[in-house]
Amino acid sequence: MAKILVTGGAGYIGSHTRYALEKRGHSVVVADNLSRGYKDAVPAGMLRVIDISETEKMERLLREEAVEAVIHFAAYIAVGESTEKPELYFSNNVSGSLALFEAMLAAGVKRVVFSSSAASYGIPKKVPIPEDEPAAPINPYGESKVMVEVMMRWLDKYRGLRGIPLRYFNACGAEPAAGLGERHDPETHLIPLMLRAVQTGKPMTIFGDDYPTPDGTCIRDYIHVSDLADAHVLCVEHLLNGGASDAFNVGTGDGHSVREVLDAVERVTGKPVPHTMGPRREGDPPSLVADSQKLRRALGWTPQRADLDRIVSDAWAFAQGHR
Ligand SMILES: NC(=O)c1ccc[n+]([C@@H]2O[C@H](COP(=O)([O-])OP(=O)(O)OC[C@H]3O[C@@H](n4cnc5c(N)ncnc54)[C@H](O)[C@@H]3O)[C@@H](O)[C@H]2O)c1
Repeated sequence: MAKILVTGGAGYIGSHTRYALEKRGHSVVVADNLSRGYKDAVPAGMLRVIDISETEKMERLLREEAVEAVIHFAAYIAVGESTEKPELYFSNNVSGSLALFEAMLAAGVKRVVFSSSAASYGIPKKVPIPEDEPAAPINPYGESKVMVEVMMRWLDKYRGLRGIPLRYFNACGAEPAAGLGERHDPETHLIPLMLRAVQTGKPMTIFGDDYPTPDGTCIRDYIHVSDLADAHVLCVEHLLNGGASDAFNVGTGDGHSVREVLDAVERVTGKPVPHTMGPRREGDPPSLVADSQKLRRALGWTPQRADLDRIVSDAWAFAQGHR
């Protein structure tokens, strides 16, 4: 069992992955600057409040904790904010990642799993999207992910930094029994927004019902955060066992429309979702679904919690505890 540093481990996906790593028997240290995360998402004693851009501190931490591999989640994640302040995204997500990689190289830690995104594909030509679909981001957030993937390829080739970028589709769900779930502020993700509308009675907006999809609303691939966490565990173990660098999509391979999600939320909560129908949002492709065969074949990963009602009921259980 290994010692693993989780950057951004006080955030949504990082906290679930920390939990999954511990369940597998790994030992974890979390590095987070708490800019967008929650101290109470990390067990006492495991959190180091540090910014990934602090190379020297990070190198010291890696050495002192005898870290063997890093899972790197720390980043800003809001597409809209990235169009208002692209420089923030290039600074935090790109320069921050470079500083982290420098610290890793200095400390001799040469295994990293990185949170990339389906946003790297932009508006894909082929759906389900295979990993060899060219990168074509349409916002600075997506570009920041592509830039880090590019750095990783060169650092792999010339510095032996073995890395796996995982391109996530729509992370959702929760691990309510562990007190973990989605708490973004501001929240931009569909399921928590619908649950909040149920709780507060204030309508949420659905952006567009005139897309070329069967019911007119956008189709996305909703992947349970704990299935996503399991994919990280498999990938970090693969690297620790001497496995090669590679890039993988992480999605279920099934798409659900916004209306289908709304129906699931109403089924699970037993209440109507107050909503209004708005116009399309710029840059929203009609359908984004992963071709997830590569990860299934290479590492035997299969999503265990793909059922939409299961996803929504886990998110609902968490939301009720954190109203
Ligand atoms: N949530 C999704 O659906 C989704 C989809 C695709 C990719 N991703 C990627 O997954 C990763 C995690 O996403 P999330 O939803 O858990 O986000 P989150 O905001 O909940 O977590 C990110 C964490 O990183 C920390 N952080 C940010 N900048 C930091 C810095 N410079 N130094 C140290 N800590 C820093 C924040 O405090 C926060 O705890 C991100 O890289 C994101 O781009 C998320």
